[in-house]
Amino acid sequence: MERRTFISFLGAGTIGAALAPKWSWAYPAPFTIKSLNPSDMDALTLAEGLDFQVLIKYGDPINAKRTFGYNNDYIAFFPGKSADEATLWVNHEYMDPMFVSGYVKGTPKTLEQVEKEMEVVGGSILRLKKKNGHWTFVSDDPVNRRLDANTHIPFHWHEPIANSMDAIGTLGNCAGGITPWNTVLTCEENYDDYYGERESLDAPLEPGMYQWHLHKPYPTEHYGWVVEVNPATGEAQKHVALGRCAHECATVVELEDGRVVVYSGDDKENECLYKFIGSKPRSLSEGTLYVANMEQGRWIPIDIEQSEALKLQFGTQTEALIRLRKSASIVGGTPLDRPEDIEKDPLTGHILVALTNNVPKGNHFGSILKIKEEGNRYDSLHFTHETFLTGGEETGFACPDNLAFDTAGNLWFTCDVGGSALHKEPYTSFGNNSLFVVPRHGADAGKPIRVVNGPMGAELSGPCFTPDGKTLFLSVQHPGEKSPSADNPISHWPDGGTATPKPAVVAIYGEALNKLQGLS
Ligand code: FEO
Ligand code: CA
Ligand code: CA
Repeated sequence: MERRTFISFLGAGTIGAALAPKWSWAYPAPFTIKSLNPSDMDALTLAEGLDFQVLIKYGDPINAKRTFGYNNDYIAFFPGKSADEATLWVNHEYMDPMFVSGYVKGTPKTLEQVEKEMEVVGGSILRLKKKNGHWTFVSDDPVNRRLDANTHIPFHWHEPIANSMDAIGTLGNCAGGITPWNTVLTCEENYDDYYGERESLDAPLEPGMYQWHLHKPYPTEHYGWVVEVNPATGEAQKHVALGRCAHECATVVELEDGRVVVYSGDDKENECLYKFIGSKPRSLSEGTLYVANMEQGRWIPIDIEQSEALKLQFGTQTEALIRLRKSASIVGGTPLDRPEDIEKDPLTGHILVALTNNVPKGNHFGSILKIKEEGNRYDSLHFTHETFLTGGEETGFACPDNLAFDTAGNLWFTCDVGGSALHKEPYTSFGNNSLFVVPRHGADAGKPIRVVNGPMGAELSGPCFTPDGKTLFLSVQHPGEKSPSADNPISHWPDGGTATPKPAVVAIYGEALNKLQGLS
């Protein structure tokens, strides 16, 4: 991108002062990062000029009692009091019963297996320290903590949810967001896999694949929420006002008056995109939840006081929020192709949404959607939209999932071709799941470049930059997924040899990372 174009991106007409990016934009000198070829190797491979270290992996002790959970996903970085201290939040999205509890497919699940599985989901809070320029994990630090499927978490709401003001546990923690007051929002995505799902409290339960309901009859209505966690204390609350669905993420934009807007996608084929607009500063409970109608370019309220049809169906606002999918379809939310991660583009102020795919509709490769809120006002109820990037052989990527911007506004995104679809048609040309960067400057501006390839069976997820842009944390999730058995895994990453595969968080550094951002 020419300097002239870059400056016009930042033009006062595009972004008002209050909405200007929080970083002071360095204009990077031209730098080309060389693309990797697709991989079918059982290794984490990186483009020239990038290097990685494993920060922590499944089963590593974090203190005397607890260990790091399974399938690390979303990562949030909280700078500490000094430049070499930090706290990291890491989601543990789900677990592979074959590797975690020794479960054998087709057998009834035992209580012991369920209890083992309940311990490895949720999230981890980790103390980090910088040594010789690299971030390391500090075991046994008092900050280190686990939240899991046994942690008691209150609902932040004025009415009970399925007869209780508290939930037992958090699970399905996929992606998330950070609030302006430095708490993390962790999103419960595929909650129905654990305790099943039902249409109402007295409707029959459709069991979930993990069969936890057999031994722990917890109400499934207690899951599928956005959960706020204070990384300093581990205190948590479930935010009912943001609705209940397979929340992928909760991306927060702060308004000038301190109110917040939270964007979230419901990651399922033909499900919707939502945004919550707070009515009071810093509130995630007072405000209105809206669903996107793409045809009209309009955000439609999920509010029984504004919809007779909703009132008739549910009677209470609480029930309308618990059955969010039904509510969205009643008020005219537009079905989308699996809305996953969402980020605000720091250069343009537009909202990008990964639409992973919609195989039943013949959309195998997905796309990234761009939402332009009217006047870049995030509390506006009107928007226009267009496709930002389309997956496929031409662009070289398939099934975009997590998005992250670096300090120069380059877009990084991960791909998630499902475990059973990897290396099969129509995905053979894409190889293992990967991380791409879309430079915003120089000769490759706008072009997706493959910069990290995952090991066999893995998905790369949770890309997270430190504020100085010099470290990129990345989750390597479910290496070895779809192995024929635990004794015969298709991956041995990261330990190699004949080792059992383990999900891990890696820290990526290197000259290429710095040069792409114009950092010294
Ligand atoms: Fe958990 Fe939608 O990825
Ligand atoms: Ca995801
Ligand atoms: Ca995904």
